[in-house]
Amino acid sequence: MNPALRHDYLAALGLETWVERSAAPPPQVSAPTDREAPPDRGAPVVREALAGREAGVDWPELKARVAACTRCALCSTRTQTVFGVGNPQAQWLVVGEAPGAEEDRQGEPFVGRAGQLLNSMLRAIGLAREQVYIANVLKCRPPGNRDPSLSEAAECLPYLEQQIALIKPKLMLAVGRIAAQNLLHTEVTLGRLRQQVHHFGLSRVPLVVTYHPAYLLRTPTDKRKAWEDLKFAREVCARV
Ligand code: URA
Repeated sequence: MNPALRHDYLAALGLETWVERSAAPPPQVSAPTDREAPPDRGAPVVREALAGREAGVDWPELKARVAACTRCALCSTRTQTVFGVGNPQAQWLVVGEAPGAEEDRQGEPFVGRAGQLLNSMLRAIGLAREQVYIANVLKCRPPGNRDPSLSEAAECLPYLEQQIALIKPKLMLAVGRIAAQNLLHTEVTLGRLRQQVHHFGLSRVPLVVTYHPAYLLRTPTDKRKAWEDLKFAREVCARV
């Protein structure tokens, strides 16, 4: 990427300077997290029973099922479901937590202020929003933007699993603690999940974790760490 353009994107992230280390060490690749992480939290039996529920379903049918979903109580408070957006053949799949108020209104993930920052983060590593696929762990907004419950996540994850099966991304980027913990079925803190290669589910898609853009809006001092995570993710994707 043109250095001046990169500078502009980094400035949009709040990072004024960027000096590439010429001899940066190669990314540290961890063993699969199911060998490293503490025992699964929540209800693995329920999760396993639900896993694969949407297997084999094509895009139109999957979209229709999500739009009509009544599997948890969020269907009674949502304005509409938020399926996901982007390139169905994307190399990168970005996964957030759940729709917020603006996403619930527009039916598209990451369209509020956090979404603007996410777009800048992606641009900083040379990716247009339209190039990637963006989805959430939950397809419906939890009232008051509370955290998703375990059962809501368990009911909703099969939809995301089938999106992953259809997209076949080279890399998943989990943004924020809630997305990371739900995708990896762990309670390990975000700080400890960053800067490692994890693998998602049975498909073993490489998964990298970074901060949620809404958190970065509140804590701009961590934008530099997010930038490190994005560069790390780009290196991991280039090696797959
Ligand atoms: N935060 C998320 O995690 N997802 C969205 O779609 C919007 C905000």
